[in-house]
Amino acid sequence: MFHKTLLVVAMLGAGAAQADPLDLRRADRIDGDAAAGAAKVTVCVACHGPEGNALVPAFPALAGQNAEYLYRTLAGFKRRADPASPMTAQVEKLDDADLRNIAAYFAARKRSAAPAAAGDRTTGAAVFDRGDPARGIAPCRGCHGAAADGHPRAADGPARYAYYPVLAGQNADYLVARLAQYRDGKIDDTTNALIMRGVAHNLDDASIRALADWLAAQR
Ligand code: HEC
Ligand code: HEC
Repeated sequence: MFHKTLLVVAMLGAGAAQADPLDLRRADRIDGDAAAGAAKVTVCVACHGPEGNALVPAFPALAGQNAEYLYRTLAGFKRRADPASPMTAQVEKLDDADLRNIAAYFAARKRSAAPAAAGDRTTGAAVFDRGDPARGIAPCRGCHGAAADGHPRAADGPARYAYYPVLAGQNADYLVARLAQYRDGKIDDTTNALIMRGVAHNLDDASIRALADWLAAQR
C-alpha cells in the first residue's frame, strides 16, 4: 500500500503541471476549541444541517469528520478561492484560529444517518473492499478504513492519517460530485488530493454512483 501510494504521487507529479501542491505528509494534528467554534457555525448549519448532519443530499455532512481533514479542507477553500464554490464566500472572513475551532466543533458532533439511497449496494461494497485491479483502482478500505470511518491509523498513527476523511454516512449526491472532481483532476492542490486523484482517475460513472450509494448507507 505504501509503495503504491508513493508511486501514484510520483507519477502524477511528473505528468501534471500543478504549482507546488501543499505537502501534507508531515502535517501535524490540529488543536481547536470546540466551544469557541460553536459560536461561529450558525451560518454553516443552514446548509450543512443541524450539528453538521446535512439534510440535502448535495451538501456534505460535517458531523464526526476528522478535525484535521475539516481544517485542511476549509483552509483549502480559502487558498483556492474558487468562484464556483459556495464555500469561498463562507471562509473569506474566518481566520486560521476560527477554522481550527470550527473543525474541532464539527469533529465532536455525532454523525446521524444520511438520507437513504436506493442504489445497487453490492458493486459499491466490492469496489470499496477490493478495488478494481484490472483498471488500476486501489481498494478504498486500505486508506479509508474497513468501515469507511477513516484511516485505520488516524487515531494512533502518524498525524498525516487524520487528514484522510471519514466516508461512512456521507451524503450520496455529494460523494458523486466529489469523486468526479477528483477523477477529472479538478482538485490537485495538496499531496492528499493527488493521492485521491490517482485513485479516482479510472473510475467510471456507474462505479462512482455505486460507491456513493453504498457509502451513504454505512453507519
Ligand atoms: C450556501 C450553503 C453553504 C453554507 C452556508 C456553508 N457551506 Fe460548506 N459546503 C457547501 C457545499 C455545496 C459544499 C461542497 C461544494 C464544494 O466542495 O465546493 C461545502 C463543502 C464544505 C466542506 C467540505 C466537506 C468535505 O467533506 O470535504 C466543509 C468542511 C464545509 N463546507 C464547512 C462549512 C463551514 C464551516 C461553513 C460555515 C462557516 C459552511 N460550510 C457554510 C455549502 C455551504
Ligand atoms: C491511497 C489512499 C487512498 C485510497 C486507496 C482511496 N482514498 Fe479516498 N482519499 C484519500 C485521501 C488522502 C483523501 C483526502 C484528499 C483531500 O484532502 O483532498 C481522500 C478523499 C476522498 C474523498 C473526499 C471526501 C470528502 O468528504 O470530500 C472521497 C469521496 C474518497 N476519498 C473516496 C474514495 C473511494 C471511493 C476510494 C476507492 C475507490 C478511495 N477514496 C480510495 C486517500 C485514499
